Amino acid sequence: MSLNIGLLGCGTIGYQVALELISKKFENLNLKKILVKDSKKIRENIDKSLFTTKAEEILQDPNIDLIVEVLGNEQPALDYVLTAINQKKHVVTANKELMAKHGKKIFSLALEQGVHVQMEAAVAGGIPVINTVQNDLKANHITEIIGILNGTTNYILSEMKGGEEFEEALKQAQEKGYAEPDPTNDLEGYDSKYKISILASLAFRKYISPDSVSCVGIRSISKKDFDLAKEMGFSIKLLGRAKLLNDKSLSINVSPYLISLDNPLSQVDGVLNAVEIKGDLVGELMLIGAGAGPKPTASSILGDILTIKNKGHKVFLPYNCKESFVITDKNISKFYLRLEVNDEKGVIRDIGCVLAENGLSIEAIVQKKEIDSACLTLITHEIEEALFFSSLKSVEKLSSVKKISSNFRVL
Ligand SMILES: NC(=O)c1ccc[n+]([C@@H]2O[C@H](COP(=O)([O-])OP(=O)(O)OC[C@H]3O[C@@H](n4cnc5c(N)ncnc54)[C@H](OP(=O)(O)O)[C@@H]3O)[C@@H](O)[C@H]2O)c1
Repeated sequence: MSLNIGLLGCGTIGYQVALELISKKFENLNLKKILVKDSKKIRENIDKSLFTTKAEEILQDPNIDLIVEVLGNEQPALDYVLTAINQKKHVVTANKELMAKHGKKIFSLALEQGVHVQMEAAVAGGIPVINTVQNDLKANHITEIIGILNGTTNYILSEMKGGEEFEEALKQAQEKGYAEPDPTNDLEGYDSKYKISILASLAFRKYISPDSVSCVGIRSISKKDFDLAKEMGFSIKLLGRAKLLNDKSLSINVSPYLISLDNPLSQVDGVLNAVEIKGDLVGELMLIGAGAGPKPTASSILGDILTIKNKGHKVFLPYNCKESFVITDKNISKFYLRLEVNDEKGVIRDIGCVLAENGLSIEAIVQKKEIDSACLTLITHEIEEALFFSSLKSVEKLSSVKKISSNFRVL
């Protein structure tokens, strides 16, 4: 079977995909048209006749079998993808925001129209995690997924581990082209939120909206947290984590986590991504690799095109679009808590009492004198997450506590 392909977008990823398709390495994949905003812009090694600025020349062309959507953002990508499906064209997309927010609608329509939708590049760039979860681990009951899903924040945190302050690490990431001029989506954890909701939907086979993912980014982490974490035997990573608590409820969040230095995830540094999957048969599995970049991402996109080429006509929903989970904060976790307190007698006792009243006990504690105060750092024993967060309100009210400087889960 041969496929005629329409490419929507010719930016960082689209350009690489176009070059690969033009190279004729892939038999029977024919690039027919590329949608761009400016068809006069020079894009080396691509024949100008392929460019169009009119989406309908691709979407309404009955000779095009498959579109590759690499425009990014929600619109017009959503309209174009739905139109393409209605025109019975297969879709390959790298767009996590689109698939996290609208996956249910897109997959349902694709089922109706009998076309395939693939999205390997939408999560962790070149790492074949979607295919692994969706197909290779089909026989497993997956119970948990934990991922370093954003290369920009992982680069910044790795630099902070090496001694940089947040602002300096961010500046370096921008200079090296790892962070956007407006890095909000990465720093606030939104990018990871889209990705973990996609992975969780596939792993647990029911659609999970990104709106149900509790999300904390990395802006609250300081170099001091890294120094203290290291003393206690930990590093700090931004993780997306989804854990099945029972067949109806799920805990899902994006948050900074302290990770023990002997956990391999703590050693995944720089712009790399990593995903750990726990299944009843496979046990613990970890995939590590390039989470972004033109070639790794093109690897996933081209893999998706070839999968569709070999798939035949049978179309399946990747998850149940009608039911979802109850999202809870009843997961059990240890916590790291850093407080700025008055340097006076009885502070540790007061804090210990308030925590005990809330059912929390302390596993480790470090106190350090500072100029006008003291820095008190605790690791708690395991507690239901909701209880921990509610007990912070009582801690905050203590007259000896000046400030809750940071609080993170411990993996
Ligand atoms: N970059 C990565 O490493 C990576 C990794 C994994 C997944 N992805 C995903 O891949 C997608 C593309 O990312 P990218 O890095 O290639 O972004 P990009 O460099 O910004 O490319 C997007 C391209 O689409 C064009 N475009 C946007 N709206 C358009 C429209 N209405 N009509 C015609 N052209 C339009 C843009 O043109 P202008 O520049 O003229 O606006 C730009 O050339 C995103 O969904 C991203 O999340 C990227």
